[in-house]
Amino acid sequence: LKRLTVPAIQARKGGEPIVMLTAYTARMAQLLDPHCDMLLVGDSLGQVIYGFPSTLQVTLEMMCRHGAAVVRGSYHSVVVIDMPFGSYEAGPEAAFASAARIMAETGAAAVKLEGGEAMAPTVAFISQRGIPVVGHVGLTPQAVNALGGYGARGRSTAEEGKILGDARAVADAGAFALVVEGVVEPLARAITEAVACPVIGIGASAACDGQVLVIDDMLGMFERTARFVKRYDDLAGRIGEAAARYADEVRSRSFPGDDHVYKPRP
Ligand code: KIV
Ligand code: NA
Repeated sequence: LKRLTVPAIQARKGGEPIVMLTAYTARMAQLLDPHCDMLLVGDSLGQVIYGFPSTLQVTLEMMCRHGAAVVRGSYHSVVVIDMPFGSYEAGPEAAFASAARIMAETGAAAVKLEGGEAMAPTVAFISQRGIPVVGHVGLTPQAVNALGGYGARGRSTAEEGKILGDARAVADAGAFALVVEGVVEPLARAITEAVACPVIGIGASAACDGQVLVIDDMLGMFERTARFVKRYDDLAGRIGEAAARYADEVRSRSFPGDDHVYKPRP
């Protein structure tokens, strides 16, 4: 399994669905890599790994550390690193500097940034200088304070038009793929038909060219998740059970038993 390339992902438009999951650590990347086309080091690590209330406190340093770990742990998937809040919004040149640091420190293939029309010049500036960019429109978590929450987007005709315009602007600016998050199905379908690049949905129906989920969400690590999350396991429950068994065995001195104890050489 050779590592996929950005052009190989681009060529998947309208074809075999693109499989993407988030990963934040080397070991998880190793486990997911054979099954995925793309791994996203999402700034969702703010909540998932660091326990922040939103993604707004995530730093470039964090993204670089976790990004490098995921690149080390994978050899097949295209690794994409989220640009964190505050590292790209000021302008195309500031954004390029941040993106260049991410590329240099992680060895990833691409960066992702949130935003629509207002970010199109930045997407163009970065991608024209050799750094492939994934766009992200619809529900954009870094804008939670402006949006007023994490609810689905595109429920009104006006909002639908705005988000479709955002998607077109970012795709026309040169994004090689577009994440569309938390939008009603007709809008997801319209975006996927409107743009030339692959659309990767999260809470955006099966009409997209691919899907992404936050790994900890799909593994059942959290009690509460968005409607669009499907749980493929109940890791929270299984981890609790394992910890409880360990605690019982330590307290009853049945762990460590014979199998797990060093013996002096005869
Ligand atoms: O940060 C993240 O995990 C993301 C995906 C949910 C698309 O941006
Ligand atoms: Na993100």
